[in-house]
Amino acid sequence: MTKTKAESAPQSVSDIQKELDALVKAAQGELNAAEDSASVNEVRVAYLGKKGKINLIRRNLKNLSAEDRPKVGALVNEAGDGLTAEIDTRLESMGSAAIQQKIQSEALDVTMPGVYRRQGKPHPLTQTTREICQVFHSMGFEVIDDNVCPEVETEYYNFEALNFPADHPARDMQDTFYTDVAPQVLLRSQTSNAQIRYMETHELPVRVVSPGRVYRNEEVSSRKNVLFHQLEGLLVDTDVTLSDLKGVLQSFADLFFGQSRPTRFRTSYFPFTEPSAEMDVQCIFCEGAGCRTCGQLGWLEILGCGMVDPNVLKEVGIDPEKHVGFAFGMGIERLAMLKYAIDNIRLFYTNDLRFLQKFQG
Ligand code: DAH
Repeated sequence: MTKTKAESAPQSVSDIQKELDALVKAAQGELNAAEDSASVNEVRVAYLGKKGKINLIRRNLKNLSAEDRPKVGALVNEAGDGLTAEIDTRLESMGSAAIQQKIQSEALDVTMPGVYRRQGKPHPLTQTTREICQVFHSMGFEVIDDNVCPEVETEYYNFEALNFPADHPARDMQDTFYTDVAPQVLLRSQTSNAQIRYMETHELPVRVVSPGRVYRNEEVSSRKNVLFHQLEGLLVDTDVTLSDLKGVLQSFADLFFGQSRPTRFRTSYFPFTEPSAEMDVQCIFCEGAGCRTCGQLGWLEILGCGMVDPNVLKEVGIDPEKHVGFAFGMGIERLAMLKYAIDNIRLFYTNDLRFLQKFQG
């Protein structure tokens, strides 16, 4: 092992003092030049580390006379402590400078004008559907999920099982869109398919409403569209009477329109109900006096209904001697138009913001 110069020729205390001063000065120069904490730590290792320049002097203590050794030891400690303190101060100031810089770069000017974002709301038809469902839900009806009842349906569910025999003229009441998938596949013309679909797969008693889209090949006008929405209702149990049906629908009308207004039931015909009826509410625009909207009648038709025909119950394996039911179906657009005084059904489908914004409430 080769000996270092310091080891071979012992230095005087004053020489060592000078060397220490020079080292401290050099370290201070490097500290000032250091731009980040990593460089500061490099300085610490270079001077105060195990093999650092100041520690090397400490290692040579053994070459000194017994008299000089404690003096030099004290000088080395003093230089080391001084440098350590300077390094710590430098690191501390760097840390707070970094924090300051971060705070400044992330500063938020709360006085700047905000970016206005218009808030979206459910479509008026969605709102109306929810309102209707809520009313029936409050009366104990379950709301069936849309996907239980397909919109692309077979003749069987749309007509046959609902007691529309083949070639029955009642099928012409609803101008149906047929698909070219197969001769019996069509776009459902009514939500009444929900009655069959639901009874086929559920135990009695049944008490459900089922909203959804329906399609009819009709001339588009201010009152009719080829696509519209209906809500079907079905209740099957024992001891169900026509007056139960009337009571439920009267309550619905009161709750949906927000005030009790006269209703009336007119006899009608639907293949799947017997007896069948249509329900009118007193015109909400003229209060029965007669106006353009109600065609001077003083009444507005809002839905079809009736007691479930025994043939329909039989079709899904329910014994009509033991069980009875009622059903009803209403047009959602029609109810929305009456409740919110909308005079053109096409407004629902054209996405005109001036119209939609009226329903932001
Ligand atoms: N499905 C009928 C239509 O679209 C409406 C209807 C009438 C539904 C009477 C019913 C009902 O459930 O009992 O014209």
